[in-house]
Parts: sequence; structure tokens; C-alpha cells
Amino acid sequence: MKETPVIEAMPLYTHLDRIQKGLSALGIGPDDVIEPAQLFPLDQWHYDGTAAVQRAAAQLGLLPGSHVLDVGAGLGGPARFLAHTTGCQVTALELQPQLHQIGVDLTRRCGLSERVLHVCGDALTYPLPDAAFDAVVSWLAVHHIPDRRQLCARMSSALRSGGGCYIEDLYMRAQFSAAELSDVRNVLIGNSVTSIDDFAADLRAGGFVEVVATDLTRETVPFVAARVATWRRDAAKYIDDFGAEAYRALETFYAVIASLFANGSLGCLRVVAIKP
Ligand SMILES: C[S@@+](CC[C@H](N)C(=O)[O-])C[C@H]1O[C@@H](n2cnc3c(N)ncnc32)[C@H](O)[C@@H]1O
Repeated sequence: MKETPVIEAMPLYTHLDRIQKGLSALGIGPDDVIEPAQLFPLDQWHYDGTAAVQRAAAQLGLLPGSHVLDVGAGLGGPARFLAHTTGCQVTALELQPQLHQIGVDLTRRCGLSERVLHVCGDALTYPLPDAAFDAVVSWLAVHHIPDRRQLCARMSSALRSGGGCYIEDLYMRAQFSAAELSDVRNVLIGNSVTSIDDFAADLRAGGFVEVVATDLTRETVPFVAARVATWRRDAAKYIDDFGAEAYRALETFYAVIASLFANGSLGCLRVVAIKP
């Protein structure tokens, strides 16, 4: 029987020593203070880096004092960027304890622990306070989460009335072939990759209004194609910095994603919505 893939084995989430190795390559030791900007090439695990996060901050009108929930925070890159650039308070919710711990450490070394609270748990079950947040954000995490409708209901409950939701994620543009579906399930750990309409319907069913979904595929295709091309071009340097195994794991991962986008079956979307 085929084993169910575990999220910890997804290549983006393995070889985690590459974060400190990347910092060491900049001359930053394991206990050294870090400028948030020094982390941006390492801690933004979504498309279009900090520019994507900046767009969310502008759309949501985040200010010092705004309370933001980041679902699937990874290493906390977007959370730190938001806190650092807008002065808002972010609760960074991450499933995987190892990523959570690295996030806590990076936030402390960036001097942002008073503005970013890292919490570790499953967004489908972690106890979230009611009506406590002004905004909820999420980058490339929702597709991992099997019960998206329940997730949307939980995000809506956590928001105050009038609060905004801003998500960027993957969607299914055209029916996946059997081989593509296998890649989506086993390489991307995609547990809820559906049409844009189904995504928006789950937000409405979860209690959101003014749901506006935008197709970002056109700008994402060149990003993912360039990412794998650059990775291959700079192979020698990456192998030097991170090791051959880490290089190969990410090469496969980046190549599968670029191919799914190039085939036209995988897409990227932004969806914004309001809690009434
Ligand atoms: C591709 S990473 C993106 C991380 C971060 N949003 C960023 O853009 O840098 C997706 C993250 O979602 C987390 N995740 C997946 N399922 C989750 C769940 N049920 N609850 C909380 N986090 C989850 C994963 O562990 C992973 O760290």
C-alpha cells in the first residue's frame, strides 16, 4: 500500500540547516543579531518575496497596533516583514514544530519578539480567540490544509467585524492528469487544490463577504520558471553553501512546480474578503 506523504518530507521543509548556512555565508553566526532584510532571500517561502507581503499590508491598511493572524507562517518571514515595516502585531501560527522553533529564534535575533508571537499548532484545531484580529493573512499554506471550509470558518471567527482576509495560494486551473495529481499530492502535499470558484465558495460558506479572487497565474509562471533556471545555473554555488542533497531536493521540487504551471493545470490566486 502507498504511504500517505507527510508534510515534513516536502523538500522545502527538509535540510533546514540551510537557513543558518545561508546566514553563515553572509558572515552571520548562529547567535548573532540579524537585520530583517538579511533574511528576505531565505525566509519568504512564497512567490514574489516581500513585494507580495507589501501588497497585503497596503490592501489591509495595516498600521502600528493592528493585530494580524498569519496562518501557515513557515519560518515567520511574512510575519516579521509585516511587523517590521508597519509596526503591527502578528500571531504567526505554524504547524511544524521545527519550523516554528527556527521562526522563534530568527524573530528574537531580529529584535521583533515584542511584535511577533509564534504559536505552534494546526490551523484546523489550534484554539484561536474570537473576534481578536483585525486581519488574517496566509501565503501558500491553505492548499496543505484538507478541510478548507472549516479553516475559512475559523479564520472568520477569529476576525473582528470589518476585518480583512488576504490569501495567496495555489488552485487547479485545468483538471489534473493522473501524473499531475500524483505530483500535487505527493510533491506539493496539496490537500485542497481546487478551482478558484470552489476556493471563493468556501470563504463565503465560512462567513466572509465581498470575496474577490484574482488570478495571479500569468505573473507566477515566469517567477517559477526563473526560480528553477537560476537554481540550476547556480548549482555549484548552492552545493557549496547547502550541500548536494539539499540542492537536489529543491531542484526536484522547483522543477515539478514549474512544470505544473507551464502545463497550464496549476494556478496561483489571491483572494481578499471581509468579515461582516
Ligand atoms: C509554503 S510554506 C509558506 C510559509 C509562509 N507563509 C511563507 O510564505 O513564507 C506553508 C506553511 O504552512 C504550514 N502549514 C501547513 N498546514 C498547516 C496547518 N494545518 N496549520 C498551520 N500551518 C500549516 C506548513 O507547515 C508550512 O510552513
